Amino acid sequence: MMDWERFYRRADYDRCAYIGGERMADLAERFFEWRGVPDDFASVGCGPAVVPFLLAERHPETEVFGFDLSETVVRDNAEKADVQGLDNLHFAVDSLPGLDTDQKFDVVYCVATLYFVEEPRRAIESLYSHVRDGGHLVLNYPNETSRKQFDREFEGRKRESFELVLTGANLISEDVVREVTGAETRNYWELVEDEEFVDSATPCVVVEK
Ligand SMILES: C[S@@+](CC[C@H](N)C(=O)[O-])C[C@H]1O[C@@H](n2cnc3c(N)ncnc32)[C@H](O)[C@@H]1O
Repeated sequence: MMDWERFYRRADYDRCAYIGGERMADLAERFFEWRGVPDDFASVGCGPAVVPFLLAERHPETEVFGFDLSETVVRDNAEKADVQGLDNLHFAVDSLPGLDTDQKFDVVYCVATLYFVEEPRRAIESLYSHVRDGGHLVLNYPNETSRKQFDREFEGRKRESFELVLTGANLISEDVVREVTGAETRNYWELVEDEEFVDSATPCVVVEK
């Protein structure tokens, strides 16, 4: 299984967004046009936090948080936020499936992360419990289509990293998200009018609370 702390400790990682690149921040803007700019936004499994950095710069009135299980990436991000003088951008170590923070947020955003998490149902429950009433969870997850695509395309080390998906151990579906949250879901890619990922092996849904 992927050892993220070791990966970041090697210190040669790209500061990239793993799905969709910097465009993901523009898609988040379209999401804000639809729901309003949040007072606070939390990226869980933030990694190098490309989206949180761009959103914090563009929306100084929004408190932006990034959580990740890797101490190294959290420290790197916090240093970078400090250097850039972004007082509204905060980072902490925290991990799924059960987040420790007792904070709630207008938007909880979890993209390119559930692929690596055991107990996805517990993780969704935890993520949703950190959404404030009237807020939204944006959730990207692996499904059976992802498994088939990864099985065709991934080789070597990449297969090891995505072991939980390839063995089917943490696959979920939109029905599971509805069941766990008890709420309706809608397709995030459709909502933000993205053409690349809609109907792809990269499902992402919005759940209102
Ligand atoms: C592929 S990266 C995605 C980073 C970012 N969300 C993005 O879209 O660019 C996955 C991130 O999830 C983090 N991660 C993996 N398992 C996690 C867990 N159980 N709880 C919290 N973060 C986790 C990893 O440390 C890594 O930074």
